[in-house]
Amino acid sequence: MTTTPHHVENGGERPASAPVRNPAPHDPTASRGCPVTAAQDSPAAHGSPADRIRLYEPTPPEGRTKLWKRLRERHGPLVPVELEPGVRAWLLLDYRETLTLLQQPHLFARDTRKWREAVEGRVDLDRTVPMMTWLPNALYADGAEHARLRAPIMDGLTRIDMNGMARTVRRIADELVDSFVTRGSADLIGDYAGQLPALVVNRLFGLPDSYGHMLNGLTALIFHEDAQRTDEAINGMRQYFAGLVSRKADAPGDDLVSQMMAHPSKLTPLEVAYEASLIVSASHMMTAHLIGNTMRTLLTDDRIRSAHTDARLSTHDLLDHVMWNDSPLQLLAGRIVLQDVRIGKARIRKGDAIYLGVEGAHHDPAVRVGRPDPDTGLASGSRAHLAFGAGPHSCPAREMGRLVASTGVTVLQERLGGLRLAVDPRELRPLASPFLHGVRELPVAFQPGRPSEPPAAQTQQMEQVPPVAEEEQPPEDLLGRLLNWWRGLGS
Ligand code: HEM
Repeated sequence: MTTTPHHVENGGERPASAPVRNPAPHDPTASRGCPVTAAQDSPAAHGSPADRIRLYEPTPPEGRTKLWKRLRERHGPLVPVELEPGVRAWLLLDYRETLTLLQQPHLFARDTRKWREAVEGRVDLDRTVPMMTWLPNALYADGAEHARLRAPIMDGLTRIDMNGMARTVRRIADELVDSFVTRGSADLIGDYAGQLPALVVNRLFGLPDSYGHMLNGLTALIFHEDAQRTDEAINGMRQYFAGLVSRKADAPGDDLVSQMMAHPSKLTPLEVAYEASLIVSASHMMTAHLIGNTMRTLLTDDRIRSAHTDARLSTHDLLDHVMWNDSPLQLLAGRIVLQDVRIGKARIRKGDAIYLGVEGAHHDPAVRVGRPDPDTGLASGSRAHLAFGAGPHSCPAREMGRLVASTGVTVLQERLGGLRLAVDPRELRPLASPFLHGVRELPVAFQPGRPSEPPAAQTQQMEQVPPVAEEEQPPEDLLGRLLNWWRGLGS
């Protein structure tokens, strides 16, 4: 079978290039407070090239939070941006209007084939910026087609026993900690937070862990400075998903991919490959950097750490605090405007793309006026943040994401005594991506400890997805050959 996704998404991470320039002066057409309405008069221009903020420029060392604030002050809630040189879009930074927009798919579509830049040939959808390409999976579909593509994912996730899943995640987290606990030092991103979600998802797919380590390694290689390595990694990812579907077609099991293949939505093998690729791209980096940002907060913010250790701030409230203030997601995939509309005072043309600035919306002064929680002093004890999206495309796996992140954070706290940052916080390097918010490495030191005891066979049986035995020799199929190639790279 030849299922070969032609593009692999990576959560929007991309290499750095040049410094961010100062934002342009305030746009008088943009103001806040008005709901989204159909525009009666002619649409406004998109701003001159000099007015547009270049989203493709690298993240400044202090991160982008201050940039969103400056843009809001100068432009109001809607900012003209360029996604790549000459490719125009809008960026919305208003919480209420972002929510309204996400809940109105009849006005704001995900199908990027309707984007004017693509229709008029200024961008090639196969090559454009992350999340503005087009792929045959749920994230890029609207209406009935979206329902058809989302149902197999939803139904597969609903079948998961979350108690058994909690044991599975705990065991994977323990195994990762075992690999560095005797050392007394680790990079919590590379050694742990990056690996945990990839291993969990790979187990949902019913594969031995060696394939999960490869999946994580390929994702990391996609950001390699050497272009040849990047190309190899993208090609490897394509083969992973094609090989996964091919192997499950030959030998179906009790796993998410086999269930999607047998679903009444009648997905084609190619669609299953793209859906599996979506599950990885939607979960991997988000969960990794939710764990990373939470650990960074605990290691650098005394107020939060003491609220958490004194049990005034539960782990889930801590995650919500981080999702409000330090969300791994900065920008949500662009929506395509289906008819001329007014947002605030700005008129947006049919065919325009609007990116949703989640981080900016979370810092919208209109949602920051709540009374601080008397126990914690934090004004963020609510789950109304947009970190899991909203509307028909909202994350179908928020419970799973929370489970992996909360277990990931808890295991580190339980297992690593005297945990502390090994560098000055100012040395932590932000991700270059305009889409993701996190650090590239999180070096820590702790008192060296002992590996955990292997779990009793009985506990293993109670897991949702007990580990699949490692193969002595990978099968001679596409996936097996890919693993052999990967092992060869490491030697
Ligand atoms: C903390 C972890 C996670 C966060 C913050 C997160 C966040 C999100 C967000 C914001 C969206 C909406 C995208 C949009 O509207 O454009 C989304 C969609 C999605 N997420 Fe998650 N996610 C997480 C974990 C996961 C996990 C663990 C899985 C799967 C196992 C998953 C699968 C998906 C899928 C398939 C979609 C697309 C749904 C659709 O388009 O209908 N996510 N996620």
